[in-house]
Amino acid sequence: MDILNVSDCYNVYIDNSIKGLYDALKANINKNEKIFFVTDSCVNKNYEDLINNLSKAFNADVCIINHGEENKNYDTINYIYSFLIDGKADRNSIIIAIGGGVVGDLTAFTAATFMRGIKFINVPTTLVSQVDSCIGGKSGYNFKEIKNVIGCFHNPEFVYISTHFLKSLNRNQLLDGFGEIIKYGLTIDKDILEFLDMNSNNLFLLEDTVYMSIIKKCINIKSNVIDKDFTDKAFRNILNFGHTTAHAIEVESNYSVPHGIAVALGILTALKLSEQLFDLNKGIYKDTIKLYTKLGMPSSYKVDNYEAFLYAIKHDKKNNDKINFVLLEDLNRCKIKVEVNEDDILLALKNSIDK
Ligand SMILES: NC(=O)c1ccc[n+]([C@@H]2O[C@H](COP(=O)([O-])OP(=O)(O)OC[C@H]3O[C@@H](n4cnc5c(N)ncnc54)[C@H](O)[C@@H]3O)[C@@H](O)[C@H]2O)c1
Repeated sequence: MDILNVSDCYNVYIDNSIKGLYDALKANINKNEKIFFVTDSCVNKNYEDLINNLSKAFNADVCIINHGEENKNYDTINYIYSFLIDGKADRNSIIIAIGGGVVGDLTAFTAATFMRGIKFINVPTTLVSQVDSCIGGKSGYNFKEIKNVIGCFHNPEFVYISTHFLKSLNRNQLLDGFGEIIKYGLTIDKDILEFLDMNSNNLFLLEDTVYMSIIKKCINIKSNVIDKDFTDKAFRNILNFGHTTAHAIEVESNYSVPHGIAVALGILTALKLSEQLFDLNKGIYKDTIKLYTKLGMPSSYKVDNYEAFLYAIKHDKKNNDKINFVLLEDLNRCKIKVEVNEDDILLALKNSIDK
């Protein structure tokens, strides 16, 4: 097991088994602390025995929410609040999320707001959540067709990542995680792109050592970024590379395009915008497309309704009355808060994904 520390604040355990989860929970939970697990219907189906065993071992209640981004809303938060109140949760209670980014973000928000804040532990089970959403403290939910527009920062007590959970992901769910990994490669550490390229054939064999290494790299990168700008005032914006278009794709597609794939598509549009505005070396776009093809990553998304799409871009929570993008001046050299106009966006969409 590897242990990384984030911002001198909490540990991230990275393991290939589940046994360490029991040990970490035992070591970190006091007798007077009542435990509540939150998971979703799909994770529960895949890991019913594990969740039942954990619930017995820690005398815990299990709250099962409906899976999927379309349930990342206030109704689900309300459901978890009611579950906690019915289960007599108090200020010493701990909520443990076992699931992907949706379960993690919703549980973190619930923990941040229930009785003005209770403890939260994150056990991420998708590649997206293991390489990205499990650290950084962002919590939240979607409201009025705007992604993550309600939320706050609430750090976990610890994070337990096990590559064991990746074994039940299907090919598309795994691909979904590559979107965020490629984002780190283009914005911060180009070695990741080489690593994905060299391992493209065996990534789907799900070797623990390969994934533990990728996850460790990504957690280290994100940890260094949030150390500099936890509350996302400026520098942390680089982690939003590809995300403005991604959020519009998620909303316009009624969440049928999952987050990581939407990010991968949004990255292509951001690269074209970077070519248009910063004369970015065209080889970077070509190499990225080559990598997508090798991995089997989609590279097109037909926009149905431009008005709705631009509305979603304008109302992305990172934009106010102006439309700002994170772009690349060069590989691993980002420029944040670049103001772009609608014509630039439409041209970049046409020249990248909108086919
Ligand atoms: N807080 C942050 O910093 C941050 C960063 C990136 C993404 N996010 C958010 O994370 C969400 C995307 O995360 P996600 O892709 O994990 O979404 P998700 O939680 O919806 O999981 C995707 C699907 O996989 C299923 N699943 C989860 N674990 C599984 C497993 N081990 N085996 C089989 N199926 C499994 C889920 O039930 C769901 O149907 C988005 O809402 C995004 O906004 C947040």
